[in-house]
Amino acid sequence: MNNDILDSKVNAEDYDNNIRPESLDEYVGQEELKDNIRVFIQAALMRKESLDHVLLYGPPGLGKTTMAHIIANELGTNLRTASGPSIEKSGDLAAVLSTLEPGDVLFIDEIHRMPKYIEEILYPAMEDFELDIVVGAEGNSRSIKIDLPPFTLVGATTRAGDISSPLRDRFGIVSKLNYYSDEELFEIVKRTSRILNMPINDDAAMEIARRSRKTPRIANRLFKRVRDFALVNNLDKIDKDIALSSLEKLKVDKDGLDQIDIEYLEGLILKFNGGPVGVETIATSIGEEVTTVEDVVEPFLLQQGFIKRTPRGRVATDKSYEHLHIDKK
Ligand SMILES: Nc1ncnc2c1ncn2[C@@H]1O[C@H](COP(=O)(O)OP(=O)(O)O)[C@@H](O)[C@H]1O
Ligand SMILES: [Mg+2]
Repeated sequence: MNNDILDSKVNAEDYDNNIRPESLDEYVGQEELKDNIRVFIQAALMRKESLDHVLLYGPPGLGKTTMAHIIANELGTNLRTASGPSIEKSGDLAAVLSTLEPGDVLFIDEIHRMPKYIEEILYPAMEDFELDIVVGAEGNSRSIKIDLPPFTLVGATTRAGDISSPLRDRFGIVSKLNYYSDEELFEIVKRTSRILNMPINDDAAMEIARRSRKTPRIANRLFKRVRDFALVNNLDKIDKDIALSSLEKLKVDKDGLDQIDIEYLEGLILKFNGGPVGVETIATSIGEEVTTVEDVVEPFLLQQGFIKRTPRGRVATDKSYEHLHIDKK
């Protein structure tokens, strides 16, 4: 079995310090999700049962992995981690499942990338806490059932649409993570500043919040880079001036668009006359992977009204033309 199955690949930057919230109270925003999870966890604890399976979906960096960790913490159980693409053989999944202890949380990241035939092993495991495995050589094989302890599967995906409905139907709790408000990101930046021991003025924190693509991971990343600039400039506090000059050097504009966003919009407008054009074509023209464009770049541009999706492809909106100061022909 792959070595990385149990500790999966998680962004190293998320682990290099303790800025990742560990309890529901520390987790900023996503109020509806938190309220619901709180009730379901409490009910599971009162009934002394495992929590129902949870599916979390939404763009990268919004707090899915963090929530999986928090769920295990709040339940007081262990978290085992695997990621969809690293589970290649049915034995890989069986090995993970058979090490679970009662009440454990099994987190499968990028669950949409798990092969179909492996999904099918999950069904009885999720439904009846049973593992059906085939033993013996070909021609002489038989299937045996192994009882599993009750556990909670937490699945995370950037692509809810790529999850088969039989799998999706087996999750009792399905929740979409939303982009964060500037106020919530402000709170996250202030929190990170306290934990990393580098004070920041409110107006500077708001500037970082506004430019973070509505995404906590980016807010934290920008904070850390701005902190580097402040340090090198011998400042013991981040003020608005150093925040603004750093953000400019980092090429993050006032609406939080980064270089890839700008290349995407410029490409769409200048090379394809504003669309409609297919996502593969745009991705190729700016040298990005289609999945990056679809999962990371476009959700934010759509949400912010810079582009629209039409049956014939992507179209740039007036807001994009104005943003780039390009006259519409
Ligand atoms: N609700 C939140 N409150 C505070 N920080 C958050 C929140 N969500 C995410 N973060 C921060 O952003 C980082 C990225 O979140 P993560 O859970 O890895 O996102 P995802 O798994 O959805 O890609 C985390 O390490 C954490 O520091
Ligand atoms: Mg994650």
